[in-house]
Amino acid sequence: MIYFVTGITGTVVPVVVEDLMKKDPDAVFYFAIRKDKKGNGVQARFESVVDSLDLDIPARRKLVERSRLVEIDVEKEKLGINPALYSELIEKTEKILHGAADVRFDQPYDVIRIPNVMFSQKIYDLLDAIKQHRELYGKSKPTLYYISTGYAYGIHKKPIPEDFPEFHPGKPDNTYAQTKAEAKAFMLDKINQRNDQIVIFEPTIIGGSARTGRTKTYNLHYIVMMLGYMGKLPFLTAPENRLDIVPVDWVAAVISDIMAKDEYHRGVVRLASGAQGVPVKSLHDVGYAYYTTHDPVPGHVIPKIRFVPRWFFYSMVNVQKIFYQVMYLCTRRKRFRKMAKGISLLEGYFPYITRSKVFENSRSMELIQKYTDCAAAPTLQDIQDKDGRLIQKGYFEKIMADTLETGWGGLVDFKRLGKKTAEEFKTPEPALGAIRK
Ligand SMILES: NC(=O)c1ccc[n+]([C@@H]2O[C@H](COP(=O)([O-])OP(=O)(O)OC[C@H]3O[C@@H](n4cnc5c(N)ncnc54)[C@H](OP(=O)(O)O)[C@@H]3O)[C@@H](O)[C@H]2O)c1
Repeated sequence: MIYFVTGITGTVVPVVVEDLMKKDPDAVFYFAIRKDKKGNGVQARFESVVDSLDLDIPARRKLVERSRLVEIDVEKEKLGINPALYSELIEKTEKILHGAADVRFDQPYDVIRIPNVMFSQKIYDLLDAIKQHRELYGKSKPTLYYISTGYAYGIHKKPIPEDFPEFHPGKPDNTYAQTKAEAKAFMLDKINQRNDQIVIFEPTIIGGSARTGRTKTYNLHYIVMMLGYMGKLPFLTAPENRLDIVPVDWVAAVISDIMAKDEYHRGVVRLASGAQGVPVKSLHDVGYAYYTTHDPVPGHVIPKIRFVPRWFFYSMVNVQKIFYQVMYLCTRRKRFRKMAKGISLLEGYFPYITRSKVFENSRSMELIQKYTDCAAAPTLQDIQDKDGRLIQKGYFEKIMADTLETGWGGLVDFKRLGKKTAEEFKTPEPALGAIRK
């Protein structure tokens, strides 16, 4: 099968590609890729992705031999792809995996609309051109696999329904959710009105691999865990809220099975843990126990987080933000601006933690059972038996071990923390100050 793939330098798509290499012996790829802001070219970026894949050397070599890089610029017509190559894509591509998106929660709408909505529309134009070409030559229809998000549904007080072919999102939590909802509505319209072959995947929060605990991106629950470890999150709220976290390797296994088996071509598959969501308080308790037992910094004390009512929590956050903003205005010290920015970034995450998000998933589980070799998302949390004792399932330990091994992907410098701890916090750093983008 010949695939055109976006998002190869991200967190999720490389794992899907790893799987496709194992599941489709004839896989050939066109990878849409751009230079990065540091000036690394597309070839160098692709090579570093290949080096990071969980494939043996012959499989990596095979992937390189079967890959062609397509430099893109989403703002340009036809993604800025040179015309000869665009025609080649139309002639050859059989399946598109569109996994690229700007996943930041603090971007202005007009900015994030480009990678999340406009990009998706241009990908659809490519699908449409491929469809027409294949029809002309009597070939099978192409399929577009689009990675949306469960959070495109925005604020829903009730459990979020699986309402395909409908879609009724609530008020968006942020511009990311808003633009992902717009893109989903666009794709749904093409399925409903034009009967196009489009499969929309809706993962919830994607966490580290269930097999290894590893992740490429340390955001959302990872940041909250890090702040807890650093003692910079004295308060939190909504202990009973459940976080719907699914491991990246499970997400990739479902997507790649559906792509490689080639039997399911139209609809929405939600990738959620549903009733297995992990309560915020459980995550805190397991994290607290793990980090205090395995802390690599001698003498470092991890305070317990206090759970407080929502109004109190949000007032504290606002007071802190205003304090840092005023301090920055008065002193012009960059440190205060960084703190205020860090709090704003965290504010983007809070809706995921403090607002109840329960995702129905039984319809999708039926699809997953029918069209893939996957079972339900592996249990992510340690569970309690009937006497309230914790039965360890191990996933938490894996992801927490990874955070200590990598220092949250470099966000935490244990040596520096060790030095500071040894100085007995003579000059304590204000809360929430460790967030970095
Ligand atoms: N991670 C989650 O928890 C989660 C949950 C639900 C759904 N999703 C969805 O899953 C998909 C993959 O997410 P992810 O976590 O892998 O994201 P990620 O790690 O941030 O990767 C995003 C990918 O999109 C590419 N991209 C973004 N803007 C682009 C642009 N303007 N032009 C070209 N490429 C662009 C990035 O390329 P560069 O490296 O060049 O920036 C990167 O390859 C997204 O559609 C996301 O909405 C993710």
